[in-house]
Parts: sequence; C-alpha cells; structure tokens
Amino acid sequence: MKIIIGSDHGGFELKEIIREYILKKGLEVQDVGVFASESVDYPDYAKKVGEAVASGNVDFGILVCGTGIGMSIAANKIPGIRCALCNDVYTAKMARGHNDANVLAIGGRVVGKGVALMIIDTFLNSGFEGGRHNTRLAKIRDIEGE
Ligand code: RB5
Repeated sequence: MKIIIGSDHGGFELKEIIREYILKKGLEVQDVGVFASESVDYPDYAKKVGEAVASGNVDFGILVCGTGIGMSIAANKIPGIRCALCNDVYTAKMARGHNDANVLAIGGRVVGKGVALMIIDTFLNSGFEGGRHNTRLAKIRDIEGE
C-alpha cells in the first residue's frame, strides 16, 4: 500500500509522527511536506496530495492541518477526491465503509498522537461496503460532472 502525506505548519508535528508510524508498519510513504514549522498555505499541500491520489499512483492520502477543515475543503475541490475529516475513530471507519474516502484529513491541534494513530489504523484497515453506497457515490460523481 502506498500512502502520500502532507501538512501545513498546524499539522507539521503530527504529520512527522504519522510518517514514522506508517513507515514502521512497512507501508510505502511519500511525504510532500511541509518540512519545517514556518507558516505556509494549506491548499498548496492539499493540491499535491489530492492530485497524486486522483492520478491513481497512490492508494490513499493523509492531510494534517490545525483542524483538518481547510485541508478537507481544498482536497475535495479535486475531481475524484473524497476527503473525509476524521478527528475520531468512528468517523474514520464510516469514511471508508460508507463514503469510500480516499483522503483522510486530521486536525493536528484537535487530536493527540494516540487517537490520531488509532484513526490512521482504522482508516487504512477498513474497507468500502459497496451496495447502496455505490449509488450515492455515483451521484457525487454526477455533481462533479455538472
Ligand atoms: C493555520 O493557522 C490553520 O488555519 C490551518 O492549519 C487549518 O486549521 C485550517 O483549516
């Protein structure tokens, strides 16, 4: 499984922890930055991660900003991206099961390290349930095409 990660300054510290955690799990990680804690603009990183996921070259994206809100808003502007803001484990499970989310956004100033890593595990280990949810995803694609 190949994962691409990115953050702004608000998510920098947590993004570093996430990268090391994913590497230890034996998964492939591409980190698009940010690589220091100076102030940057989160849409730049959401775009890099979102475009990589939409291209099909990676399996999932993970974006971290202060709240996760800005990253999720920006990533969801990219066609084919279903970015879910998950600051709890239940939402992370539903994001995969019901929404087939392909990008996870987390708030680095909202959740602690322990919860964040549980969210990551839940997101990466949960599958899409299909069935009635396919109809709904098709309607989202229709909206994208309008
Ligand atoms: C940066 O201060 C903060 O606005 C950003 O990390 C994020 O929370 C935006 O949604």
